[in-house]
Amino acid sequence: VLKQAGKVAWESPSNIALVKYWGKKKHQIPENPSISFTLNSCKTITTVSYTPKEDNTDFSFEVYLDGSRKDDFKPKIQTFFERVESYLPFLRLFHFKIETQNTFPHSSGIASSASGMSALALCLMSIEKKLNVIQSDSEESKDFFNKKASFLARLGSGSACRSIEGDLIVWGKTESIKDSNDLFGVKYPYEVHNNFKQYQDTILLVDKGEKQVSSTVGHNLMHGHPYAKNRFQQAHDNLANLNPILASGDLNAFIALIESEALTLHAMMMTSMPYFILMKPNTLEIINRIWEFRKASGLHIGFTLDAGANVHVLYPKQESVKILEFIKNELVAYCKNGEYICDQIGFGANQI
Ligand code: PMV
Repeated sequence: VLKQAGKVAWESPSNIALVKYWGKKKHQIPENPSISFTLNSCKTITTVSYTPKEDNTDFSFEVYLDGSRKDDFKPKIQTFFERVESYLPFLRLFHFKIETQNTFPHSSGIASSASGMSALALCLMSIEKKLNVIQSDSEESKDFFNKKASFLARLGSGSACRSIEGDLIVWGKTESIKDSNDLFGVKYPYEVHNNFKQYQDTILLVDKGEKQVSSTVGHNLMHGHPYAKNRFQQAHDNLANLNPILASGDLNAFIALIESEALTLHAMMMTSMPYFILMKPNTLEIINRIWEFRKASGLHIGFTLDAGANVHVLYPKQESVKILEFIKNELVAYCKNGEYICDQIGFGANQI
């Protein structure tokens, strides 16, 4: 390992799950497989500067968000460093300055953990590459780089492992997807119909406050949950059912599957002990308006939800003019301060 100073930077996107990850085992191993669309505009840009230090006792790092020091991010990064240290043995040999910014508004209720943790994992991978004298840019080493970055990102935040590449990423071993793996995300390996290329995601910001229940707590409540076993099986089944839908471009079947997944995620929260509800009245208003409009227009508008009150409105590019008009005229009224984000499927992280 070379003990020299340097600087690396990556931008990494957020992602939205279609089949949801909810419940985990030790070491961030998911209880069930999941699949997501990588996003395009919602991303984190992270720069890591590193300088050799004298002792190799503690981790040494400082964190900045939009140029301001953020000491409250330190415990999460400390835990992350502890988890990944055995895979990145140089971590105690340097001082790191981590500077990060998000393209989406602060506390918009959009989780920055997937984009943030994947960007940081990629920066650490680039540092490792620079410090090791032997370097190669072969396809094989690129593939290893991405897999290891995804593996490390997973240890920061589970869903972050699906943010390294695009456009559809599977995480979690399941029979219907070849080469799927619990340890890192893989690109969806089968044919995808043109209907799903450039799929649109308009994120309606219903509630921007802090979540009352973190996803860590939510995942843990799946231990001993009365419906856990069935739910985990359902996720495997839904992944298998998605294969022919993605191949044939069946938008109606797609919408039925993803809306059911979104509501099931929230049903798991409502049937946990203690139980909790992350949807807000406007979440339900929006869902009902989407259903009415879909019925009346015949257009392929659907929704999914994350672990929060915001609604991700999903629709094919070819129907975007009319659907966007509906969103602006009817749905934006339910958003906090009328805020929403227009995004679409993206292709993964980029080194800057
Ligand atoms: O990555 P985590 O631990 O924050 O969990 C995220 C879980 C969901 O966003 C609710 C679903 C998913 O698969 O992304």
